[in-house]
Amino acid sequence: MPIKDDVFQILIENRDKSISGSDIARALGVTRAAVWKAIAALREEGVEVEACTNRGYRLAGPADILSEPMIRQYLRQPDVSIEMLTNCDSTNNVAKRLAMQGAGEGTLVVTETQTAGRGRLGRSFYSPGQGGVYMSVILRPKLAVYDSVLITAGAAVAVCRAIEILSGVRAQIKWVNDVYIEGKKVCGILTEAASDLESGGVEYIVVGIGINVRLGKESVPEELADVITTVEENAAGVHVGRSELIAAVANELGEISSQLESGAFLEEYRARSIVLGKKVLAIRAGECETVEVVGIDGRAGLVVRGENGQEKTLHSGEISIRPA
Ligand code: BTN
Repeated sequence: MPIKDDVFQILIENRDKSISGSDIARALGVTRAAVWKAIAALREEGVEVEACTNRGYRLAGPADILSEPMIRQYLRQPDVSIEMLTNCDSTNNVAKRLAMQGAGEGTLVVTETQTAGRGRLGRSFYSPGQGGVYMSVILRPKLAVYDSVLITAGAAVAVCRAIEILSGVRAQIKWVNDVYIEGKKVCGILTEAASDLESGGVEYIVVGIGINVRLGKESVPEELADVITTVEENAAGVHVGRSELIAAVANELGEISSQLESGAFLEEYRARSIVLGKKVLAIRAGECETVEVVGIDGRAGLVVRGENGQEKTLHSGEISIRPA
């Protein structure tokens, strides 16, 4: 672990008090100059470290720190690559560039804010700073491209589990990959895949996940105010740390992506579905149709019955649960 991560760990453990540079240096068996360099590197990453004359260093700034060492501390596989950014256009864009350069399985891209966050079907994704999680994970599963929807479904289950572990709040899924709490959207997922033309298999998949942890209500665009919610709004005073949440999502996604062949997670996906057994509006290629959802198949396809009584399976498009 780089010295900067060890220094950060000591600052976290001593959150409520100051600790001198020489005490940190002694604890780590390094020079005071090395500690000073590590503090400068942490500040560079956006961690606010206060220096108090004669007393030493102390963490300052918002309690919910987004930082690479903090994420790593909660990861089950702490040696994955993490690209930690303060600002970028879209973590999916950054992740795709890294994947094309050969970045490995599980590489994480995380940012504080996005200037051009992207949603499904060409929409934009509202990505303000401080209260949101904006992350992308690079995966290299052995899957045919047409099966990559399984990853999308798996990512939705991973997010639900992570939210529940950290906040105790029940999260549900609107096919194919929106996560809801109490009937409002709390997370969107954008999965982008590149195929290996020779094998027809997946070369890499980028799973982009945006979670509203907390938002200043006043800054939410009017058209979103009634349709989105946040984790903390539903968590009765529980504080949810973004670094811990990111690690929990990555941990759960890692576990689920090892079960893709068996599809074991699909039972949980069905149990969390808010559309099974409901009438919804299916929207595909500009066409709308009222259908009843009768099942979710082994490839995360939505089995629906049309008004003419005929059943079919949807593998793309989207559905609306709001009255037509
Ligand atoms: C949707 O709701 O339509 C999907 C939204 C996906 C948003 C996430 S935020 C991190 C990653 N980067 C992006 O530009 N989009 C995804």
